[in-house]
Amino acid sequence: MQISVKNVTYRYFEDQKEAVNDVSFDIEKGSYTTIIGHNGSGKSTIAKLLVGLLEANEGTITIEDKLLTEENVTEIRDIIAIVFQNPDNQFIGSTVRDDIAFGLENHSVAPKDMDPIIETFAELVDMTSFLNHEPTKLSGGQKQRVAIAGVLAMKPDILILDEATAMLDPKGKKEVMDLVRKIHQDEKMTIISITHDIEEVNFSDQVIVMNEGQITFNGNPSEILTQQKVLTDIQLDVPFSVKLATKLKDKGIPIENMLDEGKIINELWQYNLKK
Ligand SMILES: Nc1ncnc2c1ncn2[C@@H]1O[C@H](COP(=O)(O)OP(=O)(O)O)[C@@H](O)[C@H]1O
Ligand SMILES: [Mg+2]
Repeated sequence: MQISVKNVTYRYFEDQKEAVNDVSFDIEKGSYTTIIGHNGSGKSTIAKLLVGLLEANEGTITIEDKLLTEENVTEIRDIIAIVFQNPDNQFIGSTVRDDIAFGLENHSVAPKDMDPIIETFAELVDMTSFLNHEPTKLSGGQKQRVAIAGVLAMKPDILILDEATAMLDPKGKKEVMDLVRKIHQDEKMTIISITHDIEEVNFSDQVIVMNEGQITFNGNPSEILTQQKVLTDIQLDVPFSVKLATKLKDKGIPIENMLDEGKIINELWQYNLKK
């Protein structure tokens, strides 16, 4: 396993309830994992623990066989990168080029080597013609693509997106999601995405559901779609067709004899998303 989280607990204040409470999960190299759950369920806290912005009170996090500690947190940050929700909070440079350069500088890339790296990653996110633009003048989707270029230039193995598309309009959302899927497929990059987007959940390899600091479900998307209770708990509405399929099954209509049940539900789910 590329990431192994074991019995991790985190409290922001000693006398407060755990933000993350005895959480364990594994993530496979090259996989796409979505983390879903209500606001305040501990998703961002997990993300911050994974990149070493917070330190667990209890439990261990192992990334590529390295135990995450205060001493090796800088080393771990070469492996794992994060993009946050608000694109405006991630810019330091006065141009897109400066901004990507800033991250490289922090990773000790010599100034003379920077330009080709910057250009490669600007091209990957389709922002080449904006390199000399001010980041503040870009659209939300463009800003997040630049933020992604900035972290990818550091060549991480794992990319975490903490609701990275939440503040974007539908067009910006699509631009960023298409990019993330492309990176995942072409570069085999491990993706961990905290999201409310059910379409993203649907194409993930692994779905983790959080509730009040704990994991209430960890499995693949077709499994979760059959667990109406988990879906209702997290208020993701189950599409009508999935409800129908579940009802048919409850009434003893053997849909599993006609086809693999998971497959039917998956098909119905896909159909619902396309409507
Ligand atoms: N900086 C903070 N200081 C104190 N409590 C916090 C802080 N950030 C988050 N929390 C609390 O920790 C819990 C989990 O929050 P968070 O991880 O941000 O959830 P999510 O990302 O799922 O919305 C919540 O109860 C939240 O109020
Ligand atoms: Mg959050």
